[in-house]
Amino acid sequence: MKRLDGKSALITGAARGIGRAFAEAYVREGAAVAIGDINIERARETAAAIGPSAYAVDLDVTDQASIDKAVAEIESRTGGIDILVNNAALFDLAPVAEITRESYDKLFAVNVAGTLFTLQAVAKSMIARRRGGKIINMASQAGRRGEPLVAVYCATKAAVISLTQSAALNLIPHGIYVNAIAPGVVDGEHWDGVDALFAKYENRPLGEKKRLVGEEVPLGRMATAEDLTGMAVFLASSESDYVVAQTYNVDGGNWMS
Ligand SMILES: NC(=O)c1ccc[n+]([C@@H]2O[C@H](COP(=O)([O-])OP(=O)(O)OC[C@H]3O[C@@H](n4cnc5c(N)ncnc54)[C@H](O)[C@@H]3O)[C@@H](O)[C@H]2O)c1
Repeated sequence: MKRLDGKSALITGAARGIGRAFAEAYVREGAAVAIGDINIERARETAAAIGPSAYAVDLDVTDQASIDKAVAEIESRTGGIDILVNNAALFDLAPVAEITRESYDKLFAVNVAGTLFTLQAVAKSMIARRRGGKIINMASQAGRRGEPLVAVYCATKAAVISLTQSAALNLIPHGIYVNAIAPGVVDGEHWDGVDALFAKYENRPLGEKKRLVGEEVPLGRMATAEDLTGMAVFLASSESDYVVAQTYNVDGGNWMS
């Protein structure tokens, strides 16, 4: 018996990176996984690479009609959603004096409103089905404290931690568990983009910031996306049935709380 046998999962932003690694892990544990992403071509490639238990779903978490359509599509395909991972997010970086409203609006639309309204749509579906479910929000060590160049992203991830707590307290009477994962620094395409932004604003050669943040981790290296899958499976499975409203740091020792 696998830990997610027969479960139906939606992972947002799963076309690449951490979401993709979670999709692979959930399929290994017996789940059917919807790879929900705004990049539908990449989502299709990822689903095809994972195998028949994964399928792509066109999803823009900033668009309510897109969220509702994706949820309806998964319901009709699998009978309902047991697990949601709110993973889609954008990153940006700038000194406070240079933050633009455009960047602020984009990050809050995806990272905060996208998380809340996808969670809402899936929670409504779970409540109607009366079988409960597991919701995992992707926070970050950036949500634990501010950083000089990262004001907006840090604020979005602090908001994700807070939303996790309130949604968990509101939904647990329905058997819907809401928890979050706070990764530290995770190697992959996302961090290549982060590194390029630090290179620009801190006047560093490409790759230097990435090397430094890896060396600073008490464990001695950046995470791989696979390093996070144990927590993602635990929070999606019945093993976490007494865990409510928590944000777990999976960061090699970067932050303690
Ligand atoms: N990589 C890290 O170091 C790190 C650290 C802490 C937290 N996190 C968090 O983990 C999660 C995954 O990170 P990642 O590194 O895999 O990111 P990533 O940038 O590699 O992947 C994000 C995915 O989200 C998709 N996406 C973007 N906007 C979307 C939208 N509007 N609707 C649907 N999909 C959309 C993208 O197409 C992409 O496939 C994010 O929430 C991120 O903030 C990452």
